[in-house]
Amino acid sequence: MTVKLIDPWGSGLLEDYEKIVKDFGLEVFNPKGFPEPNRIMRRGVVFAGRDLARLADAIHGKKKFYALSGIMPTAERIHFGNKMVIENLAYFQKHGAKTIVAIADLEAAAVRGVSLAEARKRALEFHIPAYIALGLNPKKTLFYFQSENRDVTRVAFEAAQKITFNEFRATYGSTEPSRIMSALTQIGDILFPQLEERMPGIIPVGIDQEPHIRLTRDFVSRSRSTFKFTQISSLYHKYTPSLDGELKMSKSKPESCIELPEDPKSACAKIKRALTGGRDTLEEHRRLGAVIEKDMVFELLKQHLIEDDKELQEIYDEYKGGKMTSGELKEIACEKTTLFMKSLQEGIEDARKLVKAKELNFLD
Ligand code: TRP
Repeated sequence: MTVKLIDPWGSGLLEDYEKIVKDFGLEVFNPKGFPEPNRIMRRGVVFAGRDLARLADAIHGKKKFYALSGIMPTAERIHFGNKMVIENLAYFQKHGAKTIVAIADLEAAAVRGVSLAEARKRALEFHIPAYIALGLNPKKTLFYFQSENRDVTRVAFEAAQKITFNEFRATYGSTEPSRIMSALTQIGDILFPQLEERMPGIIPVGIDQEPHIRLTRDFVSRSRSTFKFTQISSLYHKYTPSLDGELKMSKSKPESCIELPEDPKSACAKIKRALTGGRDTLEEHRRLGAVIEKDMVFELLKQHLIEDDKELQEIYDEYKGGKMTSGELKEIACEKTTLFMKSLQEGIEDARKLVKAKELNFLD
């Protein structure tokens, strides 16, 4: 079996989610296994994971577990991928998880050349407030900086003893020291909550982070006799596609990428130019209906802008039946985007005040 390498620091695209599931031996995510699945779980946007039954058992049995993810505080804005990670963290938080967010300042310094001071400033002014605005409970979420967490470093050094150079090369295709340090640190992030108490944990991430998950799980298996960590679970969401139809929205194509937050006017202008599944003429559209699978605006509504399943279904039916035009669909998307961006902006400003007043749960 040839397994395509996923490079968590690269920008390569992954064509086929089913193929990913097969090649990496992932479990297909089944929303029925989890209580009150969230929007992206219900709609197949969350598509795979590892060791999901262990997590579902913890939730159903009301056992202790944690949910953890991380972010590099580099960019000035976040994207829909970050939003999905937060929504999944918030879901587990609601279902009893001890919730932890790693601010990956060491990784940002090592692979993006952002100084620790700068990373800290950006995280406090923007990333942490944005994470709260998007649904994390500020009182119940533990935020920490990698550079300040000694337990993370301790686990990273333990992991360093159990992972070989060849394994690194096979996993990442690269053996840059900065990447090795970052990957080991990430293993530290993922496992340090268990130094205090062994318990299941779920790591919601984009599929690009899967190599880190695999390495962490290998370390857990190999160090069983000494550490007895409980094996971790992971959860993966699909990308939000680029408005021009490419698999992944990316800042390298700003005209097809909506950032968070973004000025509603500029976001709407991009939506107006997006690839749709509308037909060439109105007559044809009324007769044949839209090709929804190719419609990036519908995808945006489905993934992010419409919470209510019934509302989405109605739009689907009307658009597919040719009653609704792609212009009308874009109007809806623009309206929803405007509301969403306004409330996000307000949420960030409110959360910023909490951060300033230190009404937050920081590790120190
Ligand atoms: N490597 C992640 C990224 O590129 C950030 C990250 C750091 C992370 N530590 C983590 C993600 C622990 C999940 C779990 O954005």
